[in-house]
Amino acid sequence: MGGLKRLEYRGYDSAGVALVVPGAGELATAKKAGKLGNLAEALSAHPLPAATAAIGHTRWATHGAPNDVNAHPHTSSDGKLAVIHNGIVENFIELRAEVEASGITMRSETDTEVVAHLLAAAYARTGDLTAAMREVAARLHGTFTLLAVHADAPDTVVGTRHDSPLVVGLGEGENFLGSDVAAFIAHTREALELGQDQVVTITPADVTVVGFDGLPASPKRYTVDWDAAAAEKGGFPSFMDKEIHDQPQAVHDTLLGRMTAAGRLTLDEIRVDEQVLRQIDKIIVIACGTAAYAGQVAKYAIEHWCRIPVEVELAHEFRYRDPVVNAKTLVVAVSQSGETMDTLMAVRHAREQGATVLAIVNTHGSTIPRESDAVLYTHAGPEVAVASTKAFLAQITAAYLLGLYLAQLRGTKFPDEIAEVIDDLRAMPEKIAKVIADSGRVRQIARWMADTSSVLFLGRHVGYPVAMEGALKLKELAYIHAEGFAAGELKHGPIALIEPGQPVFIIVPSPRGRDSLHSKVVSNIQEIRARGARTLVIAEEGDDAVLPFADEVFFVPQTPTLLAPLVSVVPLQIFACELATARGLDVDQPRNLAKSVTVE
Ligand code: G6P
Repeated sequence: MGGLKRLEYRGYDSAGVALVVPGAGELATAKKAGKLGNLAEALSAHPLPAATAAIGHTRWATHGAPNDVNAHPHTSSDGKLAVIHNGIVENFIELRAEVEASGITMRSETDTEVVAHLLAAAYARTGDLTAAMREVAARLHGTFTLLAVHADAPDTVVGTRHDSPLVVGLGEGENFLGSDVAAFIAHTREALELGQDQVVTITPADVTVVGFDGLPASPKRYTVDWDAAAAEKGGFPSFMDKEIHDQPQAVHDTLLGRMTAAGRLTLDEIRVDEQVLRQIDKIIVIACGTAAYAGQVAKYAIEHWCRIPVEVELAHEFRYRDPVVNAKTLVVAVSQSGETMDTLMAVRHAREQGATVLAIVNTHGSTIPRESDAVLYTHAGPEVAVASTKAFLAQITAAYLLGLYLAQLRGTKFPDEIAEVIDDLRAMPEKIAKVIADSGRVRQIARWMADTSSVLFLGRHVGYPVAMEGALKLKELAYIHAEGFAAGELKHGPIALIEPGQPVFIIVPSPRGRDSLHSKVVSNIQEIRARGARTLVIAEEGDDAVLPFADEVFFVPQTPTLLAPLVSVVPLQIFACELATARGLDVDQPRNLAKSVTVE
């Protein structure tokens, strides 16, 4: 239970265990919706017998509501085999049809239960849990970490992974598997890093690893250099730091299963009549805080791709201003938590006026998706730090998908143009990872600037919401006065703030995009530099034009202009996190703020 507790940061909408009890003939299982505490209570009321092997899971729902039945583990029909799963099995509809055709009735709505039945069938044929796992894993598409136990294999757990983590803990007379080492850090710091597409079999005495092809593999052994206290954070000093590092995965997972290899969007989950979507003549994005800046990025992309006017409005302002909304309006509500009261009230108001409401939300089972006509989930995983990072990138990603989907549906972009953007999107997780890997300099500058009392941020086009998000992060985390401005607005007022030594971040658009946009921002840098500003420039790799005017340049990988926020905001998040840490502040729980604001 301690191990599960330390993994609860990964998901906390239900939890369960399955135990192999020697001689019992079937498994002992328990699972409960809600936080791990609910399962712990159920187990203390009805304790399970002593076991020789066990698996446990905390869930963060992707397929099926977070209830007792959908909680993991999932078992085979005879109750002898149990499986737990992280990730998404993309071809589960075909596989479920196959399982149902063999006469099995599914009990849950999950993709995972299908795997339990397939494994049971393969085990019945082979009598070998490892061989069964190899066979089934090779048939799955998507991302997965899977663990399985069988009542007839009393001291064995078999696991596998594809694009989702799984590590092995090497103990004395006991071995462990976990999504990260936090699960077993209280027992051992010795670990094995499993490679892609490998199957691991552990018993108390042995660990064997093979590829899907059955050939032996040699995983990397390492010693964990942090302790149980850091465990919930996966070894990072803060959840914020961890969540910044989660961002490539968050974007990858949000894209997963929503684009075909042939470059088409498949957003079947948007259950709004296509005819309604073809006829909408206006989109209004409503959100608060960081989510509203994601909405502003969405405006640039959706208007460009779909030629539909897009307004972006803070939910609390929208609600109380008598907005013009009708049956031809699509309202897009963006929210990490799905519980923000201001956004919920705006959703209700929009629906009362006859608008169709689509939610872009991260938290399954939350209120805003329940009260909306449709939902496009971001798959960022649980976000714990109060100030949003990975959810922001996932929201922008989901908004791109929505824009491309509407362009496809309404024919405002040619299929090959859409396919090109899809290719660009697929390349983003790796680019984001590179920005994080190259963040040494921005961290150093942030530490040097720990005593700064004011920082300004400038950007044009999609760089403008990025500038505002950079300023918000600094306000939230470091309690420093910070402002984001549209760079073009500079000369209309904010330039009066510039005095010698004033630090200013400038987000420079790609020189390969609209030439005028790039040169305008480079002129803005010169204008403030001439007045003594200290210029901290975020520019695309190879953009040497900024060098003469920059006190510091943080380069990000080359990216098409509309997608650039996914990389350009990352140094700003890291800057704020590092500077606040250097000031000795708690970046995960900044003063006066709440993760989910459920009052208006
Ligand atoms: C709060 C948080 C912000 C967040 C905003 C919107 O103000 O402190 O970090 O961006 O709510 O939250 P939501 O859950 O709706 O995205």
